[in-house]
Amino acid sequence: MRMYDLITKKKHGGTLTAEELRWMVEGYVAGEIPDYQMSAMLMAIWFNGMTAQETTELTIAMADSGDRVDLSAIAGKKVDKHSTGGVGDKTTLICAPIVAACGGRVAKMSGRGLGHTGGTVDKLEAIPGYETAISREKFFSIVNECGVSVIGQSGNLAPADKKLYALRDVTATVDSIPLIASSIMSKKLAAGSDCILLDVKTGSGAFMKTLDDAIALAQTMVAIGEGAGRRTVALITDMDTPLGLGIGNSIEVAESMDVLRGKGPHDLTEVSLQLAENMLYLVGKGTIEECRRMAEQSIADGSAFETFCTMVRRQGGDDAVLRDASKFPQAAVQVQIHAHADGYITSMDAEKIGEASVVLGAGRETKDSPIDFAAGLILHKKYGDAVKSDDVIATLYTDSTQRGDSAAQLYHEAITIGTEKPPVRPLVYARVEKDKVVRY
Ligand code: URA
Repeated sequence: MRMYDLITKKKHGGTLTAEELRWMVEGYVAGEIPDYQMSAMLMAIWFNGMTAQETTELTIAMADSGDRVDLSAIAGKKVDKHSTGGVGDKTTLICAPIVAACGGRVAKMSGRGLGHTGGTVDKLEAIPGYETAISREKFFSIVNECGVSVIGQSGNLAPADKKLYALRDVTATVDSIPLIASSIMSKKLAAGSDCILLDVKTGSGAFMKTLDDAIALAQTMVAIGEGAGRRTVALITDMDTPLGLGIGNSIEVAESMDVLRGKGPHDLTEVSLQLAENMLYLVGKGTIEECRRMAEQSIADGSAFETFCTMVRRQGGDDAVLRDASKFPQAAVQVQIHAHADGYITSMDAEKIGEASVVLGAGRETKDSPIDFAAGLILHKKYGDAVKSDDVIATLYTDSTQRGDSAAQLYHEAITIGTEKPPVRPLVYARVEKDKVVRY
């Protein structure tokens, strides 16, 4: 086989066979296929796409390029969750303990923040003492004991994706549905859970800016999961506006605990409950309606919150900060943002608000920059809210006035205040199952 011939075939819109795709992935990981040839292939895929079969075969070859985690030491059905990334998206911290409290099993490997979007591992590391790197044995035993453990990605999981993603990043080939789908799903397949719930975000703060693209990506990923024998469902959720009121690592942990204690903001609570009910449905706990009731009950009776506290203690963390958020280290500088006019907030550019959080210190400017866990924003007014000139619409938290001033400017640019109340936007746009899309 020659890479030149495979590039030529894809350039003319041909279909690559399973054998060809596997040869290509293995050769690339082994360093036998150079970056320049793989770059040409990625661009040919970007222009000509891939069939569903090709995308599934590519994903399986990528998942097989490294270790596959064997979760058989954990009793019961395991369900994984993946979000395509957002601003203020802390739903894993909420739905994982809900699912565990209702008898599901969540053995989850999460990632760090990327660009303007946050990552679950960074949020968990804001809890003093919490260890995200633990042995496999300890990981399994915590899931067996309390139903959930969330750790950082470890081992040699889908190395083909690591290498391909780095190349896509510098060859303008990230935004291709088959390439995004194979990248995400190769890691999910390698992570070993029986079922997968996907949260595909759409809107200004998301990869997929339009609903149609988000549905197409969801359908592709659901088909890959099902094709590989994993029950897979996707929800398409809004990321035009940040989710909840808090952005930043310890701020998001505190807000998640509010939701788990039944006093969180409506949007975050509702999206988290819909994700949790679908995870419970996937592991066979009942109909969607029954799973919804179970999830709500686990908040009402405190079991989801206590499950999260138990997991945190087992992973070395101090649960005092979960019970009382004022015990988190606090930011030295606070900057209040005032409305510049009377009216309604008619748009919030989630991506720009995510960038403001990075400027404040809540995300990384470069791959190795340290994170300030106390940094971030609390939004006092959101999309659709009425505001009066000079109302405080947000508070920024950081360690220097210089960072605060730069982020304040970005925040002002991100917000539009108009005279007409804007239409209500759905929180969840659609649910995608094998061969079925329901739009709400
Ligand atoms: N997240 C991933 O893991 N891969 C992509 O290609 C895009 C988002």
